Amino acid sequence: MASKKKTSVSPYLVLACVMCALAFGLLVSIFLLASNSEPSNPSQEASNPSSAPVWQTSSATDTEESTSSEDTSSGGNIIDVSFPEESEPEKEPEPGVAGPFKQPDSAHAYEKKIGLCYSISLEEYEQYIDPADASEYLLLVNAKHPLGKDYKPDDLIRIADMRAGRPDYYSYLREVPEKALEAFLDEAAMYGHGDIKVSNGYRSYSVQSNLFYGYIDRELSRHPGWTYQQAYDFVGFYDKNVPGSGYSAVPGMSEHQSGLCVDMHNQIDTDHTFDDTPAARWLAENCYRFGFVLRFPAEKEDITGIQFESWHFRYVGRTAATEMHELGMCLEEYLEYKGLVS
Ligand code: DAL
Ligand code: ZN
Repeated sequence: MASKKKTSVSPYLVLACVMCALAFGLLVSIFLLASNSEPSNPSQEASNPSSAPVWQTSSATDTEESTSSEDTSSGGNIIDVSFPEESEPEKEPEPGVAGPFKQPDSAHAYEKKIGLCYSISLEEYEQYIDPADASEYLLLVNAKHPLGKDYKPDDLIRIADMRAGRPDYYSYLREVPEKALEAFLDEAAMYGHGDIKVSNGYRSYSVQSNLFYGYIDRELSRHPGWTYQQAYDFVGFYDKNVPGSGYSAVPGMSEHQSGLCVDMHNQIDTDHTFDDTPAARWLAENCYRFGFVLRFPAEKEDITGIQFESWHFRYVGRTAATEMHELGMCLEEYLEYKGLVS
């Protein structure tokens, strides 16, 4: 009878197999850990304090393409190595748009070109401020260019912004200047000068005569030693050697008779208390935008023949007023410069 041989496994073999398996497992674990470790570039760590590496995005779906340096649309922590786009340079303000004023829709191309803009709407005023033909408003009235005794404009209308209580015979102006004046004073009110009112507009030859000869009487009583001629010259003609001279035009030589000018201020009387007030400065600085000029500036007394009057504004239309403003000329200088007067 054949004997059945019983096979047995050596315990040493089993132990060896287990050891091998453990070693293999250990090697696999080490490999896997190594492949998951963070990059060793310290500069990347330093540049991104967040837990995610800087070259990773927070999105699990990011691809190499989406993490390229040009793509910053994913919202992740992507290093943008491209140069930052230069911020848009500040645009030059367009004339007439920038500044403290609003630009009305009605503004003309000319206004934009010269940088004028307004707080009020010019809709109903533009045709008066800058009339198509302003030549008739460039009339020169002074000692060398008097008006005839009977000169009287035929388009006088009542001044809207007249000081309360002023006599009727001071309260008119030619239509075009009057409308431009309304816009001027509306704008002044926007700047806190709504108390500026007109004390004198058109004055007839006889009204001017009453004023002028009244002043002569006053000067004669103030200066008993003066001759009539001395008083006449003192009142009517500026002389740089005679302080206070040249304050009222000889009848016929006053542009108040032209109906193209006004005296306006916010004082009790029309006098030098108005000089150097905020309202006077505002009027002087802004009058050209409405077609007016300060007719008797301090630095032009020798030319105009009249002493400085901070309250007397003359309408010439905006084109001429703007040129005079830019050239620093008074009306006498400007008309000569333009070849319009000899
Ligand atoms: N006061 C100005 C000069 C005039 O009388 O016309
Ligand atoms: Zn005046």
